[in-house]
Parts: sequence; structure tokens; C-alpha cells
Amino acid sequence: MNEFQGKRIVLGVTGGVAAYKAAELVRLLVKAGAEVDVALTAAGAQFVGSATFQALTGRRVWQALWDERMDNGMAHIDLTRGATALLVAPATADFLAKLTHGFADDLLSTVCLARDCPLLVAPAMNRQMWENPATQRNVAQLRADGVSILGPAYGEQACGETGDGRMFEAGELFEDLYASLQTKPLAGKRVMLTAGPTFEALDPVRGLSNSSSGKMGFSLARACVEAGAEVTLIAGPVTLATPRGARRVDVQSALQMHAAVLQAMPGQDVFIGVAAVADYRPRQTAAHKMKKGTDSLTIELEANPDILAEIAARPDAPFCVGFAAESRDLATYAEGKRLAKKLALVVGNLVQDGLGGDTNSVTLFDAAGAHVLPPAGKIDVARDIVAHIVRLMERHSGKH
Ligand code: C5P
Repeated sequence: MNEFQGKRIVLGVTGGVAAYKAAELVRLLVKAGAEVDVALTAAGAQFVGSATFQALTGRRVWQALWDERMDNGMAHIDLTRGATALLVAPATADFLAKLTHGFADDLLSTVCLARDCPLLVAPAMNRQMWENPATQRNVAQLRADGVSILGPAYGEQACGETGDGRMFEAGELFEDLYASLQTKPLAGKRVMLTAGPTFEALDPVRGLSNSSSGKMGFSLARACVEAGAEVTLIAGPVTLATPRGARRVDVQSALQMHAAVLQAMPGQDVFIGVAAVADYRPRQTAAHKMKKGTDSLTIELEANPDILAEIAARPDAPFCVGFAAESRDLATYAEGKRLAKKLALVVGNLVQDGLGGDTNSVTLFDAAGAHVLPPAGKIDVARDIVAHIVRLMERHSGKH
């Protein structure tokens, strides 16, 4: 969760209502360990004052081309030297136009032109301004020039209209910025994951399920997107937001999950079964709510398909990874599952360490033995697991 430790980000803020989201973004970046230098345009300062950014960054804000704080008087050059990235958020239609044509008539546009690091922009404007052929031409040119365009999103706008042009939320920009800076060892690879519990209906309101928040599976999906994969996430009933860039298929029961996995299967390079799939389902599902009456009730169950074992047994099996959540004897059960289901890797954890929470403590079991990962937030654990998967796949294909 210290994604930006030791990194310096230059954040350009131009004149749009969405500038208030830039303040929130600064807070997230600083919390994640970044040093943030804010370059504020005159129009940007009309929306959020420099005092806000100074307080949030703990650093003076850069506004004037003629600022004398740099010894050599060249803030426009020195600001991006040694910086990890330059992000302009919000980027107005006017600023995008200036950027496209290489104008350098204020500090931020000059910093962009003289930059020595990746440039990302988060457009924010009225939908008609966004759709205007001039803006679209500019954006296409910026993309061709290697600038990353984050958004915009569709939705309600400050002007009262609805359409494309909303700036991404601060948390979304944070994720996209982090992802854009990562190496892409899974570029060109397709990864399919299952996550969350399944729900096996007894009647229209009741059913059998497992306790699983889905957080580990969703974190893994996000880590795979960050690593450049094309991700399909097949999710049981959970209340989590879809990881950015992942394709999500929602299901309820194990049979639905099974069908969704088979449908998404062609072309997958990796399958990670994280879901806590119910092993059994009621033999019958009542069409109407069951009424209480008798002292005891017997429900007959039948076995669900083992989705992961079935995929791993196919001749065209992708690289298969399973999870083993155990309450005891982790190593024995996890390694047993790896061999029984013919998996390249099993991620084992004791349920008391991970269930429902935001942190996890896992051990990886592969053909070479057991590897204990340090306890950490689920997203950090997920990134470590993805790095291990990449190493195993490289070894598999003979690349060292
Ligand atoms: O339930 P079990 O401990 O056997 O789960 C081990 C692995 O198998 C997990 O990765 C889980 O997602 C997967 N699994 C499955 N279908 C089932 C049961 C388990 O894909 N019916």
C-alpha cells in the first residue's frame, strides 16, 4: 500500500470544476508515499487555491514561469527531472489544445513541453466540448505523441448535462497512474479468474453459501490488469467494485459459474480459481418460499462440478492456479490439492488469517516447494502472487 514510496509525481492542475478531485488525488498519492509537486495554472487557481495544495503536499506550489525558487530559475526544466510521472488532472479542452500544438506560454505548458518523464492527462469538460472534432483531433494527436489519456468518464456534469467529459474520480486516477507505471509481463496474455462465494438457492429467498468477501480474487484481477493482462473476472454474489479494465461476469450458483467459465475459456492463458465454490447444491429448489412446520427438515444435496479440476484436466488447459483456505494442516491440504487437481500453483492460507479482512498471509505451493509470502494488504499479496505466476510461466516456456 506504499505504491508511490520514493516516487515524485508532478501534478498539473488546470481550470476546471474537477480541480477539487485533484486535491483528493494529492491526498491519496501522499498517503501512498509520493512526494507531489503541484503546478497550478492561473485558471486552476480560480477553482482551488494554492493553499489547499500546499497543505496537502507539504510543499510550495508552482505557479509562475518566473518563479525564483529554483537556483537556476528554471522551474520549467527542473520540475520533471527525476520525477516518476507528470499527470495533468483536470486537463481542460484549452490545455489539451495547447499541449497538442506545443505551446509554452505559462509554467505548466512549458513543463509539459520540457518534460523528462511520462505524461498523462485526465480530460474534464462539457460533453459537447469533448465531442467537438477539434478536441477529438487533439486527443488523437496527443495519443499518437505517446501521451496517456485517462478518461473521460460518462455521467452527470457540473453544467447539468449528461455525457462523456467527467473527469475520473481521484481513486480511479490513482489506480490508473499506478498501473501505467508498472512493467507489463502479462501483456498479450488472457487471464480468467473466479472470485467470491457461490449461492445455491433453496427457495426464492434462502440458500447455501460460503463466507467469502471476494476481496482476494478482485485484488488478483486488479494485479493482473496492472501486469498488462486481458482479464475476465467471473464473480459470485459480492458487493465489490469491478477492478478497472477487467471484464466482469456476475453469477450466483456454482452451475452458473461453471457455465460462465466454459464460455470464457477459449484463448485463456491462465486460470486462477479463487472462488469459494459450494461443494454441494440442494437437489431441489422450491419455486415458492418454504414454510416452517415440522421440527426438523432434511435437505438433500448433490455435488457441484469442481470447476478448477475440470479445466486443469483438459488437454488445452491454461496455466492453472488454485486456492486452499484451510483451518489447519495448511501444507498437507494445499499440496494435496495441487497434486489432486493437477495445478501448477496453489495459494494456501489459514482462514483465520485472511477471511473477510483487507490483509492476508499466504504460502505458495508449487513443484519446487513452499514459499512463504510476507503478510500484507491483499492487493500487495496479489501483486506478489502475480509476480510468482509470471516467473513460473517463464520457466515453463523455457525463458529464464
Ligand atoms: O474447495 P477446495 O478447497 O477444493 O478449493 C480449492 C480450489 O478449487 C479453489 O481454487 C477453488 O476456487 C477451486 N474449486 C472450484 N470448484 C469447486 C470447488 C473448488 O473451482 N467446485
